[in-house]
Amino acid sequence: MQKIVVIGSSNVDTTLHVADFPKPGETINATKVTTAGGGKGANQAIAAAKSGAETYFISRIGEDADGEFMLRQLRACGVNTEYVQTTPRTNTGHAYINLDASGQNNIVLDHGANYSLTAADVTAAQDVIAAADVVLAQFEIPLAVTLAAFKIAKAAGKVTMLNPAPAERKIPAELLAVTDFITPNETEAAAITGVEITDEASLAQSCQALQELGVANVLITNGARGSYFSVQGQQAFVPASKVAVVDTTGAGDTFLGYLAGHLDADFANIKEAAIIASRAAAIAVQRSGAQPSIPMAQEVAEAMGGQL
Ligand code: RIB
Repeated sequence: MQKIVVIGSSNVDTTLHVADFPKPGETINATKVTTAGGGKGANQAIAAAKSGAETYFISRIGEDADGEFMLRQLRACGVNTEYVQTTPRTNTGHAYINLDASGQNNIVLDHGANYSLTAADVTAAQDVIAAADVVLAQFEIPLAVTLAAFKIAKAAGKVTMLNPAPAERKIPAELLAVTDFITPNETEAAAITGVEITDEASLAQSCQALQELGVANVLITNGARGSYFSVQGQQAFVPASKVAVVDTTGAGDTFLGYLAGHLDADFANIKEAAIIASRAAAIAVQRSGAQPSIPMAQEVAEAMGGQL
């Protein structure tokens, strides 16, 4: 069984369902308000666990009911929470999401306890990091923490996967040097490389620009269009299934958790893993909420017409 360690954020998501996004200076009514578990880290950990991987999550929650809610969600989905710690007198991270009628969103974060995660928290988990097949992180926690985790993983010869979200214009060379695999979406890739993504040629160009920064393996997710990878000499565009979109929140996280859960250590099965991840994300976008939308492996298998 694949062993995954995710280092990242835990958020409770409050989603304001709106017909259209408000313009600057405009006041509008939500048609509905919903709450669900979220956070890019927690979502990816849950997706990895649901894909069938043994999954450990390193994170910080606040001393509040939201933190207890997040722990229950993670445990119910089979994520090992031994390294999810509570920061006293701090609130759990919270995301405020505007979701429009087409299923697109914009998100404002209150980072809360996510920024209290430390390199010492990662050191405390060094044995599970060193035993992982893939160590996966994003940018909703302090960058120094990701760097510490990736250094431990690389010293043990393990695969590190960086999802550079939310977008960062400049990623320190020191972090890129210990990153085996980078997985931005088209917006994040453009922020890093300056290459606007409009078609397959620009996806390839963006992958090359990321590789020139020092990361050998790149996969760019491109929303409803699909994804493009350039990995160990293999390049391909994997189209997404055409489905009726309800809510895109957490779809990218679902993709990444499933990708990490299915990727072999030598990346030779990248195309197969990307197809499985894409099918999982296509199921997620047809449902509301980040964590409630993440499918079980069995559902993904059925959507693909057989066993995974
Ligand atoms: O990627 C989606 C996630 O981004 C949401 O669940 C929200 O919490 C933010 O972290």
